[in-house]
Amino acid sequence: MKKQVVLTRRLQDECMKELEKHFQLIVVSEDQVPKREDLLAHLQGKEALVCTVTEMIDQELIEACPDLRIISNYGVGFNNIDVSATNRRGILVTNTPDVLTDATADMTWALILAVARRVVEGDSLVRQGQWNGWSPTFMLGGDVTGKTLGIIGMGRIGQAVAKRALGFQMKVLYYSRTRLPSHLEKELNVVYCELDQLLRQADFVSIHTPYSSLTHHLIGEKQLMEMKPTAYLINTARGAVVDELALIKALKEKQIAGAGLDVFEHEPYVPQSLCDMDQVVLAPHLGSATRDSRIKMGEIVVQNLIAYFQGKKPPCLVNQ
Ligand code: DGY
Repeated sequence: MKKQVVLTRRLQDECMKELEKHFQLIVVSEDQVPKREDLLAHLQGKEALVCTVTEMIDQELIEACPDLRIISNYGVGFNNIDVSATNRRGILVTNTPDVLTDATADMTWALILAVARRVVEGDSLVRQGQWNGWSPTFMLGGDVTGKTLGIIGMGRIGQAVAKRALGFQMKVLYYSRTRLPSHLEKELNVVYCELDQLLRQADFVSIHTPYSSLTHHLIGEKQLMEMKPTAYLINTARGAVVDELALIKALKEKQIAGAGLDVFEHEPYVPQSLCDMDQVVLAPHLGSATRDSRIKMGEIVVQNLIAYFQGKKPPCLVNQ
């Protein structure tokens, strides 16, 4: 008999088919974030849960589901899950690394280029019929090629962003909890430095660190003040790594030139003041949103669950 797996919400068809081959699925919500009480009710007596970034699997929920044994997150970042609470209860937590690295790095570059070269601003001007023709001084943007990129967090995604910077002949500085081995620094052509040095020198500051209490508001008023007035902040990691109110102030006061944001502090809420600024490019958390990445994320979820039900260590275990 197939094992039961609770899914907080329906995934794309390919993933559902793959999951259905192996498990009996219980989908809590078709296309919305499920109501907490529904999730709780569906989890009673169940041992396996698949969730996404939009569901807060906190201590209260974990304690209210005594039979829960594995939480398989459909995503690489797992800050939506209280891992300490799962550890206390002996619950396994898995994620889906690697398969969304390139998609997220590509999205980072989409934001870098869009914000520096004013692509979205230009697009809306053209659509509104406000373009009066080419002019030597019209809509000048920031240069990308040959500039300095500062990468905060040099894990898989940070490294993939750095690789792409080679094609733009950029100088790449990075700040990370763990320094890369020197052969990798050489291969990627990246230079390690402290955060304040990176902020002072970079023309683009791109965030690729996981979110935790240690990285909460890592970029706040003080750090934004350290950036150049011509520099851009890019965030495809997690919204709360940046103090959003401080960022709005820095943008309004032209302490920095602009921002490309794929993530926000209180998603899906985006402050109106950010929406009103031309020097900001906003995306609705699309980092991993390519068809192939999402299919592969589903495959990894399946592999993690199969391993668990076979009594083996899931390949992408993040705790214990
Ligand atoms: C991730 O995988 O962390 C993406 O942000 C979606 O959750």
